[in-house]
Amino acid sequence: MYTTEIKTVEDVRNIAREKLKGICGVYKDCDGDTRRLCQGQSYGRALGIGGIGSGASFNNNFLALRKYNLKMKLVEEDFTPDTSYNFFGKDLSMPVMAASVAGVNSFGGDSVITEQEFCRSVVLGCKAAGSLGWRGDTYTYSLEKSYGINAIAEANGFGVKIVKPREQETIIKFFKKAEDIRCIAVGIDTDGCGSYAMNTHNKPVFKKSVEDIKELVSATNLPVIIKGVMCVEDALKAKESGAAAIVVSNHGGRVLDHTSGTADVLQPIVKELKGKIKILVDGGIRNGYDVLKMLALGAESVLIGRDIIRASVGAGIKGVQIHMEYMQKTIQKAMKMTNCKTLRDVSSGILNY
Ligand SMILES: Cc1cc2nc3c(=O)[nH]c(=O)nc-3n(C[C@H](O)[C@H](O)[C@H](O)COP(=O)(O)O)c2cc1C
Repeated sequence: MYTTEIKTVEDVRNIAREKLKGICGVYKDCDGDTRRLCQGQSYGRALGIGGIGSGASFNNNFLALRKYNLKMKLVEEDFTPDTSYNFFGKDLSMPVMAASVAGVNSFGGDSVITEQEFCRSVVLGCKAAGSLGWRGDTYTYSLEKSYGINAIAEANGFGVKIVKPREQETIIKFFKKAEDIRCIAVGIDTDGCGSYAMNTHNKPVFKKSVEDIKELVSATNLPVIIKGVMCVEDALKAKESGAAAIVVSNHGGRVLDHTSGTADVLQPIVKELKGKIKILVDGGIRNGYDVLKMLALGAESVLIGRDIIRASVGAGIKGVQIHMEYMQKTIQKAMKMTNCKTLRDVSSGILNY
């Protein structure tokens, strides 16, 4: 379907810009600035690809990362950095995975990309680049229409399934389906309880207590991930509940206006819980330089959201592969220039504040 001329991230983004006309400008900086096309869709209109309300939470992710700079350290032996990373026993090419995103066809229609094609592009494109695709959940998904789980099954279980904080019974059924296809891990996006899309389509979502999460953890033999942690208290409760990992995330600024940027809340959480639970982060991460900043602030690995939407809309599986390879190249560059041979060498010492 895609010609061999599509080779670079720019090729992919140029196609995506055409297909996403009126929805996303595919700008050089995807920063949630109020003047961006996607932000014009807020205040009661469909969220599209933007942030909620004023867009401050989306924008704060970008601004928080911008406060940190990388420290160059160059008078050393030359080397090729090793970006390899192990996630729940699976060897990945780098500590970057595709975030659980869903409902992409709801803002452009099937002519832009069908939901099934979107999920396939993410999971198979990531796999081709040695990375891992996470899949999300929205009101168009059900146990019968599990687009994400279908795609992960096609990749022989090479994926992660995140379920919205629906009724406990429904979440557990999704987890069982994920288990059946040998998914790597499952989880819930606790911040999804702020989702308008679910509530307005009669798919209720709920806040989840420690007891609720304990029930989910004991219902599956897969590692359980709690996504949407923005404070130390929730991180501690996720640990107490038996979760295997947390994702520091404000859902790309889509569930509550005026939250902090994730890079700003990461450090206190790391201080409290490093080594006790896997700590991942997402929000505004656009290249390997941003990835390295988040790792230097203490995250073990990161997720990327909006860029993966653009990559899959632009060139499907190939587009996602090209984008993930770009991420790896830029991480390598960042590691070389900050003198990090492996991920173990990354520390807060490589940052200038
Ligand atoms: C269009 C869209 C749909 C999303 N759907 C989900 C979802 O179904 N489940 C989920 O856990 N997160 C969802 N997210 C949040 C992402 O997983 C991720 O946290 C966020 O996109 C990261 O920020 P970034 O887009 O700036 O990289 C969605 C984000 C976008 C932009």
